[in-house]
Amino acid sequence: MKTIFSGIQPSGTLTLGNYLGALQQFVQLQDDYQCYFCIVDEHAITVPQDRLELRNNIRSLAALYLASGIDPKKSTLFIQSEVPAHTQFGWMLQSISYIGELERMTQFKDKSEGKEGVSSALLTYPALMAADILLYRTDVVPVGEDQKQHLELTRDLAQRFNNRFNDIFTIPEVRIPKVGARIMSLQEPTKKMSKSDTNEKGFISMLDKPKKIEKKIKSAVTDSEGVVKFDKENKPGVSNLLTIYSSCTGESIKTLEEKYEGRGYGDFKQGVAEAVINILKPIQEKYDALMESDELDDILDNGREKASLTANKTVAKAKKAMGLGRVIKKK
Ligand code: TYM
Repeated sequence: MKTIFSGIQPSGTLTLGNYLGALQQFVQLQDDYQCYFCIVDEHAITVPQDRLELRNNIRSLAALYLASGIDPKKSTLFIQSEVPAHTQFGWMLQSISYIGELERMTQFKDKSEGKEGVSSALLTYPALMAADILLYRTDVVPVGEDQKQHLELTRDLAQRFNNRFNDIFTIPEVRIPKVGARIMSLQEPTKKMSKSDTNEKGFISMLDKPKKIEKKIKSAVTDSEGVVKFDKENKPGVSNLLTIYSSCTGESIKTLEEKYEGRGYGDFKQGVAEAVINILKPIQEKYDALMESDELDDILDNGREKASLTANKTVAKAKKAMGLGRVIKKK
């Protein structure tokens, strides 16, 4: 069975973008792959975090994974900082990463631009991400489009390690959904929907209540043409809503265009809101119960044990290949 690894940062409540670009596909894939899903808290601290909020976000993200349908019997769900092999191997991969290639990452450029006190971890972040993936001999990494560049670097680092030391690592493939790989802001549809957006109307949180979802979709930026048609260049707002609608219902964009032919944006937005509410409501109901349960801790304990077993074995191999430590003599 092939292996999947993916991670989400606990840096705020997840958005509809995280769900449609990542979580939704994780749930579909867990039947056919051996899956590792990670709460990447060590990635979150590459930018300043409030201690108590971070703790809460970690638990909340674990509950959201499960409420969305991640089944702990099929998949391993765990917290990155509870498996020290990640940072250990991340450091080893930093030693073969070049500053130039790290500086070229658009996420680094976006997050550091114009800022003072940018952490060095923000620059070396992709080496840790590569470690996350390579530790499990991952074949496939399901992510949204914004992570594509990091995946290319991961493949380069795996190849570099294999060539320089020993042929240990599988070169992972990226898997990006056909629809929903890049959900845009509702207010600025040429910008990615992001949990760190300062304008709350730009994103839908996975925990937004139906009334709020309806309000945000009704105030989404469209255009003055009044025609429901997919045209990313000229109608980015409507195209984004069509993508959201299609990803939530499974109906094709063409079917939706036909359904709303000759009808105004009011009707269309109502349809989009209902589709989003239908997807998120059952998740929210499960989430509330999970947050208060002990089951969540048991699942994360198990996940930590299972992930550590594989990750520690890989680190031992990588250390040997690089010449770290000693040869341990059998007594
Ligand atoms: P993060 O936490 O920013 O996002 C988690 C996942 O959600 C996807 N995503 C989106 N998809 C569609 N539309 C959007 N607007 C949108 N916003 C986010 C992301 O592509 C991602 O799949 N570096 C990663 C976390 C990470 C990771 C890993 C991922 C760390 N180690 C190893 C895969 C494998 C990140 O910051 O994702």
